[in-house]
Amino acid sequence: MKKKSGLFALLICFMLLLAACGGNKTSGGSEEKGLIGVAMPTKSSQRWVDDGNNMVKQLKELGYKTDLQYAEDDVDKQIEQIENMIVKGAEILVVASIDGTALTNVLEKAAEQDIQVIAYDRLIMGTENVSYYATFDNFQVGVLQANYIEEALKLSEEAGPFNIELFAGSPDDNNANFFWDGAISVLQPHIDSGKLVIQSGQTSFEQGATMRWDGNLAKSRMENILSKSYSNGETVDAVLSPYDGISRGVIQALKGVGYGSGDLPLPIITGQDAESASVKSMIAGEQTQTVFKDTRDLAAVVVDMIQSIQKGEEAEVNDTETYDNGKKVVPSYLVEPVSVDINNYKEKLIDSEYYTEDELK
Ligand code: GAL
Repeated sequence: MKKKSGLFALLICFMLLLAACGGNKTSGGSEEKGLIGVAMPTKSSQRWVDDGNNMVKQLKELGYKTDLQYAEDDVDKQIEQIENMIVKGAEILVVASIDGTALTNVLEKAAEQDIQVIAYDRLIMGTENVSYYATFDNFQVGVLQANYIEEALKLSEEAGPFNIELFAGSPDDNNANFFWDGAISVLQPHIDSGKLVIQSGQTSFEQGATMRWDGNLAKSRMENILSKSYSNGETVDAVLSPYDGISRGVIQALKGVGYGSGDLPLPIITGQDAESASVKSMIAGEQTQTVFKDTRDLAAVVVDMIQSIQKGEEAEVNDTETYDNGKKVVPSYLVEPVSVDINNYKEKLIDSEYYTEDELK
């Protein structure tokens, strides 16, 4: 009897010890950690849904708690969501801003609570209170789009002239300037030489800008351009589009006046994000190109930054010069974007398991 109760006591001790060691473990076996607030701009674009899901998945695997919020492109709503994250005790904030210039006050509140902030994909402007910036090489995105047009139209061999129309992103998103500048760095010599002609005469970023990246706005702008500048028999040979949602709006406008049927082919149309709707459009022979930005890689960079911050260490960055937000140059990590078209989408998007074949049907 005595021996049995001794064994029992030993078993209890062993169980208590296990509980003590395992008490702060999640079912995944990693330590339970603090709350990370993740503020995303909108669910209306598939990429941000993927970004949010990837962040939460990777953070949960490491034992973090997450508060993921989408603001449906409403700036005040995003500010309110960030305020709530601060109240809930978030230890770090990850923010993909809607209007990069509108977060100064709320991030002041975060700083008062010693909460560090990581700008996600889009730079947060005009504040000291942003520790790091994780993004893709945004200038290179524009270069990839313009290089694609240059090669598709064989601008180095063909005499032209070719007609092109230019679209830019949202003027309140710092990225839009980088995409534009990258693309124009390649296209400007061809515009100057007369090989590329912008029949609409709308040559500036401001004229090409698309508030909140809205595909419907891009559609209306393209419709206006088509009726004003292309009803004289001229046809559009290429459209520089900085983002898939804009590309799809432009394609609708073009199809509306007969492009893509009979002897009027759709022009070369670039894009960005490899959204499934646009990859399907590429497979259907409509959109020509997109720039793939692997959101899994971006999430991994941000998760590494979070872990470094929590250990009190410097996070790994690869650019300390480019991204000046008006108050400081924000240390950045730039991931490489990849140009994708009908020829390499299988390798880049399916073999890498970003999409299954079925998701693109
Ligand atoms: C940009 C982003 C692009 C695209 C666009 C519209 O900030 O870098 O990849 O997603 O917003 O959502």
